Amino acid sequence: MSIHKGLLEGKRGIIFGALNEQSIAWKVAEQAHAAGASYTLTNAPIALRMGEINKLAEKCNAEVIAADATNMEDLEQLFNKSQVVLGGKIDFVLHSIGMSPNVRKGKAYDDTNYDFFHKTLDISALSLHRLLQVAKKLDAINEWGSVVALSYIAAQRVFPDYNDMAEAKSLLESICRSFGYHYGTAKKVRINSISQSPTVTTAGSGVKGFDAFINYADKMSPLGNASALDCANYCISLFSDLTKYVTMQNLFHDGGFSHTGVSKEVMDKFM
Ligand SMILES: NC(=O)c1ccc[n+]([C@@H]2O[C@H](COP(=O)([O-])OP(=O)(O)OC[C@H]3O[C@@H](n4cnc5c(N)ncnc54)[C@H](O)[C@@H]3O)[C@@H](O)[C@H]2O)c1
Repeated sequence: MSIHKGLLEGKRGIIFGALNEQSIAWKVAEQAHAAGASYTLTNAPIALRMGEINKLAEKCNAEVIAADATNMEDLEQLFNKSQVVLGGKIDFVLHSIGMSPNVRKGKAYDDTNYDFFHKTLDISALSLHRLLQVAKKLDAINEWGSVVALSYIAAQRVFPDYNDMAEAKSLLESICRSFGYHYGTAKKVRINSISQSPTVTTAGSGVKGFDAFINYADKMSPLGNASALDCANYCISLFSDLTKYVTMQNLFHDGGFSHTGVSKEVMDKFM
């Protein structure tokens, strides 16, 4: 039985970013379904062509709506259609989107391609601003609605191979704070980011040296790395009414990594 049975009963959502079974958004969709929510699933048209998402949609009884998160018309259509399909305003949104053409094409941080850099920022960060602006203008989110975006600690500390995604995550977290103020005062909509442990997914594995890095993070975290499923559970708690006054926060979900200077296991390697 689901640990959050009934927690999201009657709530309507939009979940961005489920690409395959490894995706964090995929786990969020499964857990939201178990918690009683109804929602639409969305991804970029090119990602939908892979077809995997249809398995998830069938299992969770969700409609799939294509939207490039950098395209305002697509986003408008997504919010309008979702409200029709779900029968009312939206209560929660998951932004689980990240992509850097510089990382993809192996461009080093100090040899960046600025067209790619713009794309990184637009896809991975401004897309959150875009969807919030669209939702607010359409008045598509209910009072006390909750928007969650996924971030990474490279927003605060240097992880050399994270490349321009570090800037994208800093911007993403800043948008959570700034838009959290504006949407909070206007409509009591809350906006937070979750800063998640490294996780084996398509986006995660694209980062150079990821395998070594994920082991290092695990050894540095008193609780070990947080899994995608545990991240999904945390998202459910933030969508629920149990966290109504949490907004404009960047919330670390990393087994304690962010506050650990060094661990005994890592020290032992240097003895
Ligand atoms: N995997 C990790 O180690 C890790 C750690 C911390 C945070 N995150 C963040 O979690 C989020 C989800 O990533 P994931 O690890 O589940 O990987 P993933 O590759 O499964 O998900 C990334 C998603 O972004 C979508 N996307 C890319 N361009 C898009 C566009 N233009 N419009 C709409 N969608 C688009 C992709 O289709 C994909 O579904 C990302 O923001 C990522 O940065 C991941």
